[in-house]
Amino acid sequence: MREIIVTGAAGFIGFHVAKALRERGEKVVGVDNFNPYYDVSLKRSRAAILSELGVPIVEADISGETVFKDLLQQYAPSQIIHLAAQAGARYWLQDPDSYMRSNVSGFYRLLDACKDTPSVRVIWASSSSVYGSNKKIPFSVDDRTDQPTGLYAATKKCNEILAYTYHHLFQIPLIGLRFFTVYGPWGRPDMAYFRFTESIWKGEPIDLYNFGKMRRDFTYIDDIVKGVLGALDCSVHYGLYNLGNSTPVWLDEFVETIERHLGKKAQIRRVEMQPGEMIETYADISQSKRDFGFTPQTSLDVGMHHFIQWWKNYTKSNLERVKLTLG
Ligand SMILES: NC(=O)c1ccc[n+]([C@@H]2O[C@H](COP(=O)([O-])OP(=O)(O)OC[C@H]3O[C@@H](n4cnc5c(N)ncnc54)[C@H](O)[C@@H]3O)[C@@H](O)[C@H]2O)c1
Repeated sequence: MREIIVTGAAGFIGFHVAKALRERGEKVVGVDNFNPYYDVSLKRSRAAILSELGVPIVEADISGETVFKDLLQQYAPSQIIHLAAQAGARYWLQDPDSYMRSNVSGFYRLLDACKDTPSVRVIWASSSSVYGSNKKIPFSVDDRTDQPTGLYAATKKCNEILAYTYHHLFQIPLIGLRFFTVYGPWGRPDMAYFRFTESIWKGEPIDLYNFGKMRRDFTYIDDIVKGVLGALDCSVHYGLYNLGNSTPVWLDEFVETIERHLGKKAQIRRVEMQPGEMIETYADISQSKRDFGFTPQTSLDVGMHHFIQWWKNYTKSNLERVKLTLG
């Protein structure tokens, strides 16, 4: 059995994908640089679970010139699931270079290494953010994506163009997946669902951008994992697909869902739109359903229940660990 490489395996989606692959009996090796964009101990905890399951993580920066070439030589993988990236729509204000390094150079290094081994199938993460100023909803993969409104989105659009070119020139099998606001247990502390949960629990105010007039197509992690595995297993050679819940939710309903599961009321501040934000996201998933049977099944209510259960346990065990360390 040949190895499957999962980049970004210590990250939120990479962790769940690597775990699911291992649980169905695949040989998996992860890659991650454990960067400090958010709490590194969360990444280490995910990696420890993967290690127990028999998934090692190679600690490396994918923008390094020979990293992918060395990985291909050492593991001769049949497939690569590429999820490592500088995520987050707002971090460009602090560190714009990290988007160029990880998302543009890192992706280019992957493609360039694969051109010599065109039998390796690559499934990689794009983003709903490429739809930018697109006004037509739901967002179809045939819609315009040439007006990204933020630097993160621009790097993902750049990846889509590079993917097309490398597929065209070298016939590398490449499937790009545009994820829509993914949430769930072991999630990302920089994302609104995680920050709002923490703030509401502590009695701190939360900011609703555009005075709360925003909708997001929140998509539960288990549905995303099924979509990624579906894309991995299908026979399509090249494509771009939406992976979203296809049921957008207004921010007020989203906050009410968190309040209900926490049993606490939020202090809401309605503030102006932030640069780089999108007002609405809404996935048309007809193509992903047709080509690999993608059918998300988790409502926001059920998904947030799972997230908040996990978050309470995780926070409690962290507090206990700190107490033990301090004596
Ligand atoms: N979570 C979402 O809602 C969402 C939505 C759209 C797209 N995406 C994309 O999905 C992928 C996974 O996102 P996530 O939410 O799991 O984010 P994440 O930040 O939790 O995971 C990304 C992982 O990649 C690693 N990484 C970053 N740069 C690296 C580098 N140069 N070398 C090696 N490792 C590096 C990070 O340490 C991290 O563990 C990303 O490509 C992201 O852009 C996520």
